Amino acid sequence: MTCKTVVAKLGGSVITVKDSPETINWDSLDLLLDQISGFTGSGGKMALVLGGGSFGHYVVSSILSKRGSLSIEDAPSIQLSMMKLGLAFLHRAVEKGIRATLHPPHTFCSVGSCSFEPLARDLEAGLTPVTYGDAVPGTGSVSIVSGDDLAVEISRRLSAECLFFVVDTGGVIGADGSVLVELDNVGLVENRGRRKGWDVTGGMSRKIKAALQAPRTTLVRIIGTSDLLSAIRGKPVGTLVKARSEG
Ligand SMILES: Nc1ncnc2c1ncn2[C@@H]1O[C@H](COP(=O)(O)OP(=O)(O)OP(=O)(O)O)[C@@H](O)[C@H]1O
Ligand SMILES: [Mg+2]
Repeated sequence: MTCKTVVAKLGGSVITVKDSPETINWDSLDLLLDQISGFTGSGGKMALVLGGGSFGHYVVSSILSKRGSLSIEDAPSIQLSMMKLGLAFLHRAVEKGIRATLHPPHTFCSVGSCSFEPLARDLEAGLTPVTYGDAVPGTGSVSIVSGDDLAVEISRRLSAECLFFVVDTGGVIGADGSVLVELDNVGLVENRGRRKGWDVTGGMSRKIKAALQAPRTTLVRIIGTSDLLSAIRGKPVGTLVKARSEG
């Protein structure tokens, strides 16, 4: 199977140096962008979601360690950090010939619901919409929208055949230390990989929970940095998530 429309969540564990504040992992980013331009340059449709990595996760973790909770006044600094990551990504993507457009979720999401029309419009126009995990103000508070959840919702909205979560471990690591070929439940996966840096959206087990919410008809894999094109071409790379949602 070759995917025509792909949603890829580029994990913060890959595109940033997760234990170094606001640091991009350019080598991994370039490896991904070369695969993305290979696909979009030959007519493939793709929407991208960036993880918070050492940008959003770091800022939120710093606030939580100082004050214990987030308030609405924290929205600007979290949003600013993610915009820096988004802009750096966009700059590099455009340099590499990808027609990427950037969509900050705080402009199209409210707490609990997002309106993905601008992303769908850009995809339809042959562009590559990019969004990311973000801080979305609510009534008197601020919510962190997880990139993993956004990726699942976007894949449903765009009727993407394929949804890939790119992580630094090559997939989900099982009890014997190797990458699982497939899974259909969360199980006891957490803490088998090296946990580096900051994380405020639940790490691998939360990612699997989100992935399991994707429609049954969507091919869902958790894959490594160099596996994106192989996954698009239908190769059995990383961990297949047997998604169970009817929607
Ligand atoms: N069983 C497991 N298999 C693979 N990774 C695991 C496992 N258990 C814990 N992990 C950790 O989960 C990490 C991936 O989740 P994490 O949320 O940190 O990354 P990400 O989603 O790529 O980043 P971000 O949330 O910034 O987008 C891995 O880097 C690893 O340290
Ligand atoms: Mg994560």
